[in-house]
Amino acid sequence: MRYLVTGVAGFIGSHIAEYLLPRADELVGIDTFTGNYSRVMKEQNLRKLRQAANFRLIETDLRFADLTDLLTGTDIVLHQAGIPGVRPSWGPGFVDYVEHNVLATQRLLEAARQVGVRRFVYASSSSVYGNAPSYPTSENTIPRPFSPYGVTKLAGEHLCGTYGRNWDVPTVALRYFTVYGPRQRPDMAFHRFIEAALGRTEIQLYGDGEQVRDFTHVDDVVRANLLATEVDLPPATVLNVAGGTRTTVNGVLALLTQIAEEPLQVTRTPEQAGDVSETWATCEQAERLLGWIPSVGLAEGLASQVEWHRQRMDSRPPVRRESARAGSVGAGRSAATTPESNG
Ligand SMILES: NC(=O)c1ccc[n+]([C@@H]2O[C@H](COP(=O)([O-])OP(=O)(O)OC[C@H]3O[C@@H](n4cnc5c(N)ncnc54)[C@H](O)[C@@H]3O)[C@@H](O)[C@H]2O)c1
Repeated sequence: MRYLVTGVAGFIGSHIAEYLLPRADELVGIDTFTGNYSRVMKEQNLRKLRQAANFRLIETDLRFADLTDLLTGTDIVLHQAGIPGVRPSWGPGFVDYVEHNVLATQRLLEAARQVGVRRFVYASSSSVYGNAPSYPTSENTIPRPFSPYGVTKLAGEHLCGTYGRNWDVPTVALRYFTVYGPRQRPDMAFHRFIEAALGRTEIQLYGDGEQVRDFTHVDDVVRANLLATEVDLPPATVLNVAGGTRTTVNGVLALLTQIAEEPLQVTRTPEQAGDVSETWATCEQAERLLGWIPSVGLAEGLASQVEWHRQRMDSRPPVRRESARAGSVGAGRSAATTPESNG
């Protein structure tokens, strides 16, 4: 079995690839190391994978590579590559979102059609829903994105549907709801909150903290992806993948204070355009079609991420601590480094 994971150096892609190692005859990872955060962090994500004999990294850009050549012989594609994050998708940054999230997805689907893969899993997002008309939100709800990022993720999803319905490319789109856990992207809320709590620095909170999110542990996202490669599904399937942990951001901060055993210094700043007030999904479809239900609760999942940050901080040479932190959060395109996104 030959698997291909795009965005393999990223947060979610690297976790999926690690879980695939024991079952893959050949595991090919693609990444172009976009500048949304530092290459150093992405290389760390690849550390375990690089030691495996059945893993091969191809550093290339999906926008330009010969994808038919790359996909030849591939059974399963797990397409995780993309530019994530809601806020930087406004303004001039949008062109990157269109190219990496829409055009790259279309090129990959076209190659999958030519080559004839057995399954094409696409990393979609809760951002396709925007402020949904009802909660918990099901896949039957008409998606109305509230951010340009959400528009590009929905376009990618529609492309999967189009290739599925016309050409029988066996696509399944998984709509992830705010994913967290070890190796979470440095622009995301939990990452920033925990680093600030452990480093005793200030947390900048957008809005009043009463935004509700259905946080999903990365292990549950991985499991949904693996099941989506195994189970028989009609082409163009779309499924919510959410943790069932409906919580306010203030609730997360209270939990973090207990877990980290550190008082938090929180500064409240105005809410940001594109941020929805609530995400909350029903995952009945994923349960029915994949036999998937989320298994990691918020307290347990948050503790696992806190532990990862502790180890990461302990392993940093003290003299370089500040520069390492500045490098990880501020490097690359400024557009994709604005904090606290849910995508
Ligand atoms: N993290 C979340 O909470 C979340 C929620 C919903 C959806 N998603 C989606 O899941 C996917 C993974 O998100 P993540 O949080 O792991 O992000 P990430 O930035 O950590 O990983 C994405 C990776 O894709 C690579 N990439 C981007 N464009 C590429 C291209 N043209 N060619 C090759 N590689 C490219 C980047 O270098 C990066 O390493 C994204 O598609 C994102 O939209 C994430």
